[in-house]
Amino acid sequence: CGITAFTGQEPALPFLLQGLEKLEYRGYDSAGVSLVDPEGIITKKAKGKLEALKEELNKEMYLQQAGIGHTRWATHGIPSHLNSHPHINADNTISIVHNGIIENYQSIKEGLEMQEYTFHSQTDSEVIVHLLDYYYDGDMIKALKKVTSYLEGSYALCVTTLDEPDTIYVAKKESPMILGKTDTAAFCASDIPALIAYTKEIIALEDQQMAILKPGKIQVLDQEGNKVDVQPVFVPYDLEAAQKNGYETFMEKEIAEQPFVIKETLRSRIEDHILMPELDDLAMEDIHAIYMIACGTAYHASLYAQYLGREWLSIPIQCVPASEFRYGNYPVDEHSLCLFVSQSGETADTLAALKACKKKNAKTIAVCNVLDSSISRIADTTLYTCAGPEIAVASTKAYTTQLTLLACIMLKLAELAKVEVNGYDQLLHDVKALPETIESMLGMEEQMKEYASFLKEQHDAYFIGRQLDYVSVLEGALKLKEISYVHADAYYAGELKHGPIALIEEGTVVIALATQKDVASKTISNIEETIARGANVILIKAKGVHSDKIAHQIEIPDIHPYLACLPATILLQQFALWSAKEKGCNVDQPRNLAKSVTVE
Ligand code: G6P
Repeated sequence: CGITAFTGQEPALPFLLQGLEKLEYRGYDSAGVSLVDPEGIITKKAKGKLEALKEELNKEMYLQQAGIGHTRWATHGIPSHLNSHPHINADNTISIVHNGIIENYQSIKEGLEMQEYTFHSQTDSEVIVHLLDYYYDGDMIKALKKVTSYLEGSYALCVTTLDEPDTIYVAKKESPMILGKTDTAAFCASDIPALIAYTKEIIALEDQQMAILKPGKIQVLDQEGNKVDVQPVFVPYDLEAAQKNGYETFMEKEIAEQPFVIKETLRSRIEDHILMPELDDLAMEDIHAIYMIACGTAYHASLYAQYLGREWLSIPIQCVPASEFRYGNYPVDEHSLCLFVSQSGETADTLAALKACKKKNAKTIAVCNVLDSSISRIADTTLYTCAGPEIAVASTKAYTTQLTLLACIMLKLAELAKVEVNGYDQLLHDVKALPETIESMLGMEEQMKEYASFLKEQHDAYFIGRQLDYVSVLEGALKLKEISYVHADAYYAGELKHGPIALIEEGTVVIALATQKDVASKTISNIEETIARGANVILIKAKGVHSDKIAHQIEIPDIHPYLACLPATILLQQFALWSAKEKGCNVDQPRNLAKSVTVE
């Protein structure tokens, strides 16, 4: 979910709505705002996209100078008007918006029901407003302290009361909350793009902190309510970065940006070796195991790093999805190096896994794209991808910058472990040349568009590859299913004959990768097995790999095989994009998904 709040000497609604628009990537099942009017709190909600709420609000002028807003991704309770935020108390004097999950809401709800409180929604969040109502005696900070002490789970919370129409109260634990101000206003939101049109100086609230916003003023408080002195951080990107720049969709813009953002990510990282001073003090001789932990697309980037680590390091390395890692029995201790990859730096499972590893005294490194995000603040060291804000829900530029940075990190670890990497100079040369390589792949769009049209009448697509190509096909299949809703599966090419080949019939689309020359001939045999069963195969291959039997072949530039996933991924992104566009899908906001999943 995404939240916004504003108090100032000018109307609050423009800030709230522009902010929610920037936060729609966090969920768009419903949206709502509360505006504080001395006559009473005005709350408007609408099911579905923000547009529906805007239509509702267009019916009147709203000049109130304080308010809170919310865009929801349903966790507890179906997307509906009643389940939308804000939630208000019975006499409409307190209104709240909440992002996160209250794990013990059932027991709190039962307690409140015994006190005659009536609930109108199925959400966990509604307990917060009634609990505040129960404890509020004119001192909202006192009430907030009491309420948050009962809440288990995660929350980013904004509260307004009729008693203090120009004040917004804020509290945070494990869900992000960014604050900012101008001379005449103060505001907050779940993510930086929502604030950037108003200020570039931001404060990221820490866990257990609270804040009081008044026009032109921010006061941060600790858990006990003591004042905390915080200095704002300057954010180096502007509003344009959070807009479409003439592209039809954010995803297209973000695909096109990849040469630039990869270049940015590599800036000051490569001379005749990898420059990564952040890792210089890491004593590799003390490391007995490496864990790579992440979710979704970032998990695929981690699989890539795992592969490189296995090739170069003699330390056992294991990549595990964060949601599995948390509940598995992994022998993590002070001799473990745990790497967390996360675009947003806020994914709940990744964050929780990081905290668990810290507790066991593991050394922790984060790869994040968002400055000052929760994961980046907790990890011992954070290395940043410089992808800029990624707005489309399906990750593109964040993924390829992760691959780029992870290649550098693994090379650095090899150097620290005093391992000699075969073909090191060539590899370094090809890493440096990645922006140009990627640029040349953007020119293949027409070809991929044509291949994507093969899926027009198809419900399924199968992706196959071996070794590093397997990582690429996993990501290619994920991208396709995420945005075009075509059922897509990825298989090790060699595993096909052990089951999945039963699914191949006349016209089935198979996307095969053969960029790893040492296993390419094996993959070609597997492809031919599918052709014999009627498959329509698209082959993405390295130079020199060939088969007369495959009608549709596309070649990536000559590049070190360890880097071949980068150009191959660009093609797979375009394939997914055009398949989704052909089907008329909403490319930027696919159904059921959220960009930043701050629930477990
Ligand atoms: C969500 C997004 C994915 C993303 C995953 C992990 O599921 O839809 O695109 O890969 O979260 O996000 P992170 O911010 O941790 O990389």
